[in-house]
Amino acid sequence: MQDILLTSGNTMPIFGLGTADPMHDVKPPKWVKGRWTNALYHRTLFRFLWIMRGFKMAFLIKNAIKSGYRMIDTSSTYRNGFYISLGIKMSKIKREDLFIITRISNKEQWNSSVRESVDKSLRELNIDYIDLFMFHWPVSDQFLDTWKQMEEVYKEGLVKSIGVANCHEHHLEDILKIATVIPSVNEFEIHPLMTQKKLVQFCKSKDIVPMAYTPIGRVHPKIVKNQDLIAIAKKYNKSVPQIVLRWHTQKGIPAIPRSMNKTNIEKNIDIFNFELDKSEIMRIDDIDENMRLRYDPDNCDFTKL
Ligand SMILES: NC(=O)c1ccc[n+]([C@@H]2O[C@H](COP(=O)([O-])OP(=O)(O)OC[C@H]3O[C@@H](n4cnc5c(N)ncnc54)[C@H](OP(=O)(O)O)[C@@H]3O)[C@@H](O)[C@H]2O)c1
Repeated sequence: MQDILLTSGNTMPIFGLGTADPMHDVKPPKWVKGRWTNALYHRTLFRFLWIMRGFKMAFLIKNAIKSGYRMIDTSSTYRNGFYISLGIKMSKIKREDLFIITRISNKEQWNSSVRESVDKSLRELNIDYIDLFMFHWPVSDQFLDTWKQMEEVYKEGLVKSIGVANCHEHHLEDILKIATVIPSVNEFEIHPLMTQKKLVQFCKSKDIVPMAYTPIGRVHPKIVKNQDLIAIAKKYNKSVPQIVLRWHTQKGIPAIPRSMNKTNIEKNIDIFNFELDKSEIMRIDDIDENMRLRYDPDNCDFTKL
């Protein structure tokens, strides 16, 4: 697996594991109405399921590392740092062999300092440095101040590289006007239904590595049932998600698929033993419908993310 050189001078793997358990933003069922049922639901059923999912994730992370994953994408928004740290501990891998990404949440951008967020992540993940620290969203009126604070923790060596997530071109332009450190990475939604050609090119022109989240488009039917992808998958005896992940990595775009299924996790990294040709890459590029599956940073409620 190839590594990518960042402007910070560090390298990052081109492939990793996403860890956002969709349960972290699950809404309570309809019967949870009043204050008391709400409290009861959150303190019993939800908490129990959350802990069970957490332990499952710990074992999945241990197995993922055994299968060759070296990059783990986390965020304080996901509230599962403890279980991730457990998985890493069980794997017995050396810290320096892993590349750990984490992000400051929107709430933390408003209510605390970047240093407090870094300290909290270090504690929860049980590590003594972060490889790549980002803000999760360019929260209006806040992200430039957050970036300045991120530069300070970077210069003090608490984090090895700093980057951003969910930035459009105009956010990056605003950051570059005030920055003394170029963001190493911009992590944003990229998949065959939304290839983000212009933003990818803009990032590359500024030496910012474009990184794909929701890289297999959450297995959207328009992706898994796409006839071009199915034909390419047949040719290489791979699955459609594997073809899509190979497409990202061959284009030099790091991808971080998420899965709560051991077999899928193993399959997703089994993509480095074949190569798509140029025409196949172009066929996948052409699937683009500019179809966003996640939030648009210019049109979302940051208090709810
Ligand atoms: N910075 C940000 O704002 C941001 C936003 C969104 C996501 N992210 C990051 O990106 C990661 C991935 O994004 P995502 O979770 O939105 O979408 P995704 O990785 O494109 O899709 C995840 C879905 O695909 C399924 N899947 C995975 N591998 C599969 C396979 N080989 N075959 C069939 N189904 C498969 C998973 O189901 P199973 O569990 O059943 O395998 C899951 O339902 C997140 O975990 C997070 O780390 C970052």
